[in-house]
Amino acid sequence: MNEQDERGFSHRAFLNTAVRAAQAAARIHQHYVGRDLGITTKSTDIDLVTRADKESEARIREVLLTAYPDHVVLGEEEGQDGDAPYRWIVDPLDGTLNYAHGFPFYCVSIGLEIDGQLEVGVVLDSFRHELFTATRGGGAYLNGAPIAVTQETELRKSMLATGFAYNADTAADNVSVFGRMMGRCRALRRPGAAALDLAYVACGRLDGFWELKLNAWDVAAGVLLVGEAGGRVSGAEGRPYRLGDGALVASNGPLHSALVGALELPAALT
Ligand code: IPD
Ligand code: CA
Ligand code: CA
Repeated sequence: MNEQDERGFSHRAFLNTAVRAAQAAARIHQHYVGRDLGITTKSTDIDLVTRADKESEARIREVLLTAYPDHVVLGEEEGQDGDAPYRWIVDPLDGTLNYAHGFPFYCVSIGLEIDGQLEVGVVLDSFRHELFTATRGGGAYLNGAPIAVTQETELRKSMLATGFAYNADTAADNVSVFGRMMGRCRALRRPGAAALDLAYVACGRLDGFWELKLNAWDVAAGVLLVGEAGGRVSGAEGRPYRLGDGALVASNGPLHSALVGALELPAALT
């Protein structure tokens, strides 16, 4: 997608800038591996933050706002200042708990929303250097090669993943939904980085993923990746997902209604 938008910006240029910002963040992640991570806690004692989270968000902001001074950034660590038609939605380090324990499944996630619509998404696995990219209408890619969701049609043959928010109020729901799904699919994983989980649905390593109470920065890029790879992302009841919804269900498409039905997510999340 190389055309310019009505304000004269090119999606290709946005994507290149997002990739540059993500690569700078990934270098910071890797720099601190084996060093003092400066771990502290946030909302709960399992909600961790490290030097790498803070420094990578600062660096991403610098790259994005130097290129586009009139855009705004919503970042997990620093929040959002003001409003603008162009909003970058940034998780500087998704999978912090994995990262803090040396479990190599974490990434940086950068999405760009223009007038409320997701247009560009980048998820970079900073350990494996796998770069997932998407632009609206332009498809999804892994390290530059086109990717697509699986064609699986049977839930009982599917490989699914989920995640658990750090707040205690979703614990009971998570356990009951997890238990219910165990007998319904071939395998169920809890990898620990929602942005990468969505990228894995996009590239066909997973047939589906769901999680309760995700934040916009966890999913902005991943939602676009799944859609551009031919998959579907919805809320608990199957209507198209909107940032901030209480539940997210992503799939290859053919499995979607079976997955939504089997999950039986609590009505409070719809
Ligand atoms: C978390 C991860 C995790 C998910 C949590 C998120 P963070 O993000 O994506 O997989 O289950 O809900 O908060 O804190 O590592 O950026
Ligand atoms: Ca996150
Ligand atoms: Ca994070």
